Amino acid sequence: MNSSPWWKEATIYQIYPRSFFDSNGDGEGDLPGVTSKLDYVKSLGVDAIWLSPFFTSPNKDGGYDVANPRDVDPRFGNLEDARELITQAHMRDLRVIADIVPNHFSDQHEWFQAALKAKRTSKERERFHFYDANEDGTPPNNWISLFGGPSWTQVEDGQFYLHLFDSSQPDLNWENPEVNADFEKTLRFWIDLGVDGFRIDVAHGLIKEDVLTNHPDPQGLSNALRLDVAMDSEVRNALLLTVPYFDRQGVHEVYRKWRKLFDSYGEREIMAVAEAWVHPPVNATRYVRADELHQVFNFDLLTAEFDANVLFDVVERSISLNATVNALPTWALSNHDSPRVASRIGDEQARALALFVFGLPGSTYVFAGQELGLPDGQLQDSDRQDPTFFRTNGAIKGRDGARVPLPWGGDTIPFGFSTGKPWLPISQSWKDLTVESELADPKSSLHLYKNALELRKEFLVGAGGITWLESPQHGDKNDSLLSYSRGSITVVMNLSDSAQECEADGKLVMVSSGTVDARDGIKVIPARSTAWFLS
Ligand code: NOJ
Repeated sequence: MNSSPWWKEATIYQIYPRSFFDSNGDGEGDLPGVTSKLDYVKSLGVDAIWLSPFFTSPNKDGGYDVANPRDVDPRFGNLEDARELITQAHMRDLRVIADIVPNHFSDQHEWFQAALKAKRTSKERERFHFYDANEDGTPPNNWISLFGGPSWTQVEDGQFYLHLFDSSQPDLNWENPEVNADFEKTLRFWIDLGVDGFRIDVAHGLIKEDVLTNHPDPQGLSNALRLDVAMDSEVRNALLLTVPYFDRQGVHEVYRKWRKLFDSYGEREIMAVAEAWVHPPVNATRYVRADELHQVFNFDLLTAEFDANVLFDVVERSISLNATVNALPTWALSNHDSPRVASRIGDEQARALALFVFGLPGSTYVFAGQELGLPDGQLQDSDRQDPTFFRTNGAIKGRDGARVPLPWGGDTIPFGFSTGKPWLPISQSWKDLTVESELADPKSSLHLYKNALELRKEFLVGAGGITWLESPQHGDKNDSLLSYSRGSITVVMNLSDSAQECEADGKLVMVSSGTVDARDGIKVIPARSTAWFLS
């Protein structure tokens, strides 16, 4: 019997509900749609689903603008649908992770509406960050929102409120005990409804310090904080060291309290994963100290080049840093905020990287559609909905490309996603990338994921650490191969554009693309491909 908690080395499938499956023909995915596809989800071999927000929301930022955190938005269904989804998931031994958004509310939340009507100094305004204008009428500081434009919006009586994201997402004041109490109520509400864990949005953002201080390069900083803006990594890292509003020590007090709340549910093993993109990377380990959260996302693979030196550093650093706090790393190649991995590094490379990552210790996150090898959707500007696009006057296209609805089957648009018009257009070129057509093709990305996740469960979960065999610092020390062994599996990734010999022991059990030539006892790994060997 496995005595580890369920989340320790789980594979977690991220569902963006609006884009998953539409059960009522309105062009948008919904909770009953997710429930109806749980058999498919289960068949992938994952352990849990993480649902991006489905709470009451005007949907200015894809539901990350929450107007009532303890109810379901009608576009997704109702509380009964949420309960049914959780019940049906549990019947299939799938855990459910909800996505909680504590850094900000929607401006439609009753607290913010009350704050707008209240006086300048009032308990209603103290729940947010309201400040007077500077003497010359300008906002309290020069910070730029992560979605572009100023981080401040002025209200009728002249005060400004802080919003690190869209103006419809006022930041909450976590120095206020009422805010703490309200979120504890929300956590208990969803745990009581049956959820098994939480993904904590902007987990590093709750506490603000030096709110009245300007930043020397606010626009550069805002760009550096976006996963979809490419930037030289040295420039990015230097900027990330200067963020005045993220990763303050006070956030850890919040998570120590939350951990006690989670632990009070005992055997239910409630877990939480922090979305905390912090710098330097060692700071991320603070979120997973024994009395804080269970996991913290490692975002490095969302931007890393397909390069042996880069990938070796990312993997080695994440494993060793997490080990200092007795935690295991997390791995993600795609999510709803970043370009899809197949578009970012190429189709074959994405398959190779997935196989490389599935062998590693820790939890692995798979963004719905990644298993199909979906690229980013091709959109016209007139289709776009991401607030970033509007707040930057189109200079940054935004994240909609990764959020195009999933193609399920059939030969014509919208490939079974909806009987209506999908909220973002699906391209006809996805005909061969539907679940139906990939199920029929044994060489598809879908089969690769299913096979890999099955083998991962059988041979790798709980198999301990890795031993590097080939890297720029191990073995032949060339830049073409990355290889490690773990338990009875040896994983070899060939990053180069030509076939490469390797010395792996064991019998071939899987290859991400191409054919491994093993004549004469020498194993030759195809270009841009990863193979697993079992000994
Ligand atoms: C991170 C979420 O993943 C993203 O989608 C959202 O826009 C921001 N946080 C603000 O909540």
